[in-house]
Amino acid sequence: MPSPLDPSTFEPAVPAARPATTLRARNLHLQFPTDRGALQVLAGLDFGLHDGEIGCLLGESGCGKTTALRAIAGFARPQAGQIEIAGRTVCSPETWVEPEARGVGVVFQDYALFPHLNVTRNVAFGLRASAPGERDTRVAEMLELVGLADAASRFPHELSGGQQQRVALARALAPAPGVLLLDEPFSNLDPDLRERLALELRDILKRCRTTALLVTHDQYEAFALADSVGVMEAGRIAQWDTPYRLYHRPETRAVADFVGLGAFVPGQMVQRDGLASVVIELGALPIHLRTDQAMAGAHAGVSGQVTVLLRPDDVVHDDESPVRADVVRKSFRGASFLYTLRLPSGTTLLSLVPSHHNHAVGEQIGIRFAAEHVVTFPIENSGD
Ligand SMILES: Nc1ncnc2c1ncn2[C@@H]1O[C@H](COP(=O)(O)OP(=O)(O)O)[C@@H](O)[C@H]1O
Ligand SMILES: [Mg+2]
Repeated sequence: MPSPLDPSTFEPAVPAARPATTLRARNLHLQFPTDRGALQVLAGLDFGLHDGEIGCLLGESGCGKTTALRAIAGFARPQAGQIEIAGRTVCSPETWVEPEARGVGVVFQDYALFPHLNVTRNVAFGLRASAPGERDTRVAEMLELVGLADAASRFPHELSGGQQQRVALARALAPAPGVLLLDEPFSNLDPDLRERLALELRDILKRCRTTALLVTHDQYEAFALADSVGVMEAGRIAQWDTPYRLYHRPETRAVADFVGLGAFVPGQMVQRDGLASVVIELGALPIHLRTDQAMAGAHAGVSGQVTVLLRPDDVVHDDESPVRADVVRKSFRGASFLYTLRLPSGTTLLSLVPSHHNHAVGEQIGIRFAAEHVVTFPIENSGD
C-alpha cells in the first residue's frame, strides 16, 4: 500500500468527472412594485455554471440582466426560486444569506473605485480581514495578474478607462471569490479596445480558474469572453448554449435575430430519393444533418413552407454561379466587405466577401449558398 505521502496517491484514478456546479439559479422570479402595478423582471430565470466556467447573460437593455446579477450578489431578493453558490443555498423563500457572506465578487458597470484611494489601497479594500503581510502579498499578486504592477501608487483619475477596469477586477478577485459577477464590464470603454480587453479578461479569469458570470447587451463581448451564453428575453433564458451553437443553431427566430446578422428567406421543403432539401431563390439547399432535417420537418407547414436563416457567411460570392444579385449597399470591414444584396424577387441578403472582391453598388455579382447547416423556422413565426 502506498504511503499517504506518496504523490501517486493524490492522482485521480480516473479523469475528473463533470466539474461541480458552482453557481445555480433555479426558476427565479422577481418583481418590482411600480406606480403602474408590479413589474415582472425575472420570470423563471434558470441556468448553472460549472467550476471555472465563464457564463454570460446576453440581452437587450431592460431585459433584467443587472437585476439577475443583483439577485445573485444578494442586493435584490427574488420572490420565488433559489440560488446556490458552491453547493450552498444562499437564497430561497426560506433562506437568505447576506451579500458579504456569499463569497461573490462584483465588478460594477462604473467600476465604483474609491477616488481618494490609490490602486494598492483600492485592491486591498476587499482584504481588510487579512493580516497586513498576507494582504500586501495578495495585492502585489493581483496587480501582477492584471498587468498593473507599475501603477500601484497611482490614483483612479490618473488611469485610463481600461486600467480602472483592471483595478476593479483586481479588487474583486483579491479575496478569491467563488463566483465573480461582471456587469457590462466594457460599456465605458472605447469600442476599439473592447474586443482586445475581453480576450485579456478571459485570459485572466482562466488563469485564476475563476467561475464568472458576465452580463452584457453586446454580442461580440459575450462571444469573446464566455464559454456559454444565455440569451435573455423578458426575464428568462431563451437559449443557453456555446457562442458557436447560438450563432449557427439558434432555436428560435428571436435568438437568431438577436445573435448576429442574417436574413430570413422563404423556402419550400422537398423530399427526393430520401434526401431532404429546402428550395429557396438561391437554389436547392440539401439538408445533410439529421438534426436539421428533423427541425425542418417540424417547422414545415402543411405544404412544406419554411423560413430559412441565411447568415452573411453562408452566402458566398462566386463569379461562376448562375444566381445573380444586385449590390445594394456595402460596408468595409477590413478583411471583408459586408454586401447587402437584392435578388430578382426583391429579397435582400447579406454576404461577407473577402475585401479584394471590391464591387460597386449597382453591380450584379454571382452568389451561392455555402454552409453545412440549414437553419429553418416556421413561417409567420414571431419567434417567441
Ligand atoms: N429597483 C427597481 N425598482 C423598479 N424597477 C426597477 C428596479 N431595478 C430595475 N428596474 C426595472 O427593471 C427592468 C430591468 O432592469 P435591469 O435589470 O437593470 O435591466 P438590464 O440590466 O438588462 O438593462 C427595467 O425596466 C428597470 O427599469
Ligand atoms: Mg444593466
